[in-house]
Amino acid sequence: MALFRKKRGTDETMHYGAKLITIAKPQSQITEQFRTVRTNINFKAIDHDINTLAFTSAAISEGKSTVAANVAITYAQSGKKTLLIDGDLRRPTVHSTFSLSNRRGLTTILTSNNNKFNLDDFAQESGIENLSILTAGPIPPNPAELMGSKRMKTFIDFIKSYYEMVIIDLAPILEVSDTQELARELDGVVLVVRQAKTQKQAVKRAVEMLEFAQAHVLGYIMNDVKSEDAGYGYGYGYGKENKEKKSLFLWLKK
Ligand SMILES: Nc1ncnc2c1ncn2[C@@H]1O[C@H](COP(=O)(O)OP(=O)(O)OP(=O)(O)O)[C@@H](O)[C@H]1O
Ligand SMILES: [Mg+2]
Repeated sequence: MALFRKKRGTDETMHYGAKLITIAKPQSQITEQFRTVRTNINFKAIDHDINTLAFTSAAISEGKSTVAANVAITYAQSGKKTLLIDGDLRRPTVHSTFSLSNRRGLTTILTSNNNKFNLDDFAQESGIENLSILTAGPIPPNPAELMGSKRMKTFIDFIKSYYEMVIIDLAPILEVSDTQELARELDGVVLVVRQAKTQKQAVKRAVEMLEFAQAHVLGYIMNDVKSEDAGYGYGYGYGKENKEKKSLFLWLKK
């Protein structure tokens, strides 16, 4: 028996935050792809309003936090009053990404006995126009109960009237039950799939679980796709141009 389990993911974003290419390189082609994601989501909103949107994946480290933060930025940049919520109570990253305090956040709201939600006490400014942040807050012993609670549902309903777009970075659906509980309450859920990492079976199972939960699955984002597989696409990187050829994002419709 192995003494240590093989490490499946990386904790990099938990410590250093997600990379905000939409801020670092606003003219890059990958930033353009994030805008395309926004456009495609807006197209879906013709069928039904999309006011609350979540990103999840089958397993950990597929790029959810990176995608959620960058898509939230593109919404804010389009002039929409946007709130990014860190709903991954086990592996929170949003406070690191935006260099904010995580002393209070979503968990503080969910564990409070106060019947009224006073958002001003919790939502923080991101430093980016139109973008506010609700960090995860102190990690509780019972994340699944909190995320699936009636109070969370009431909170989502409440928050909708304050923001034009609410984006939630959720925990991976195959790893925790919280995500399934909440997914059905949201206007849209997008699955992030990391090409080289996610197993086909896991994607299938994740979609089944989301559909079983009656979530509105809008589609999925292929992350970290090697350019030769995609035939086209753009790099995702921060170094030299040749490094950027390594990986890219694609938005695929369902
Ligand atoms: N397209 C990409 N190319 C290169 N690195 C990437 C890409 N997408 C994500 N990463 C890196 O992979 C790691 C995991 O990304 P991220 O934290 O966004 O994933 P996650 O699904 O939110 O993970 P977790 O399950 O821990 O919440 C980070 O180090 C991030 O910088
Ligand atoms: Mg994450």
